[in-house]
Amino acid sequence: MDVYGIIGHPVEHSLSPPMHEAAFEERGIDAKYVTFEADPDRIEEAFEGAQALGVDGLTVTLPFKHDAFEFADVDDPVQRVGAVNTIDFTDDGPVGYNTDMTGTLQAFEHHGVSLEGAEAVVIGAGGAARALAFGFEEAGATVSIANRTESKAHDLAADVPDASGHGLEELPDLMAAADVVANATSVGLEEDVSAAPADAWHGDLTAFDAVYKPLETRFLSDAAAAGAQTIDGAWMLLFQGVDAFETWTGEDAPVDAMNEALRSHLS
Ligand code: ATR
Repeated sequence: MDVYGIIGHPVEHSLSPPMHEAAFEERGIDAKYVTFEADPDRIEEAFEGAQALGVDGLTVTLPFKHDAFEFADVDDPVQRVGAVNTIDFTDDGPVGYNTDMTGTLQAFEHHGVSLEGAEAVVIGAGGAARALAFGFEEAGATVSIANRTESKAHDLAADVPDASGHGLEELPDLMAAADVVANATSVGLEEDVSAAPADAWHGDLTAFDAVYKPLETRFLSDAAAAGAQTIDGAWMLLFQGVDAFETWTGEDAPVDAMNEALRSHLS
C-alpha cells in the first residue's frame, strides 16, 4: 500500500484527506492519505522521518512551505517562489513542487479565462500572494501587487519580472485597467468584508479569491453584482490537489470525484 499525507501545524481541519481518498478510490489505487501534525521545532526530522519510513508523497501546508523548499530538490520556477507545497519522494530523493501556483493556473483554464497578455492585480504580499504573482507571471500576465503595507508590495514586485508594487489606495485605478483581480489576503475569512472597494468592480473583470471560508465571500459577491466572472477559492484547493495527485501517481486525476468530495466538506 502507498502512503501519502499532509504535514502542517495545525492540520486537523484539512480538506486534503477526503479529497485525495476520493481520488485514490475512484482510480482503484491502494493508498492511504493521512494527517501529520508536526512539531515546528523538529520539522527537518519530520521530513527525513517520512522519507525513511517510505512515505510516497506529502502535501505541505502552513507553516512549513519554506522548510519543504529547503528540504526538497526544486527546479525553476519553484526556485524563485521559495515555497513548496507538494513533495514527491522519488528513488532519486525528495522533489518539491508548488501546486498552489500551478493549480491556480489550472483553475483559470478550467473557467476559460486566459492569463496570456492579461493585466492581473494581486491583493496581498504574503505567501499566497507570492505563489499567485509568480503563477500569473508564468502564464503571461503583467502583475500589479497591492498591499496594506506598501513596502511589502514593492519587495514582492522586485522578485517578479515586470511586476509593480502599490498601496491599497491605488486599487480603484488598478482595477479599472485590469482583467483579473485576485484576493491573496486573509480579508473575508469568516467575516463579511472585502479587500477590494465594491464600486471598483466592472463587468470585464475576473475575480479570484484564495479565501474559501465562506465559499461566497463579500469579495466575490461584489464582483458578481458588477457582472464580473468569479472563481472561488475551492478551485485553487481542488487543482493544487489534482496536480499533486498527477505528480505522485502519473495518472490523470479524477477531477469530478475530487471536486465533489471537497465541496461536500465545504458546504
Ligand atoms: P499568507 O502567507 O497566507 O499569504 P500572510 O503572510 O500573513 O499570509 O499575509 C497576509 C496578507 O494579508 C498580507 O498581505 C497582509 O497585509 P500586510 O502585509 O499589510 O500585513 C494582508 N492583510 C491581512 N489583514 C488585512 C487587512 N485587514 N486589510 C488589508 N490587508 C490585510
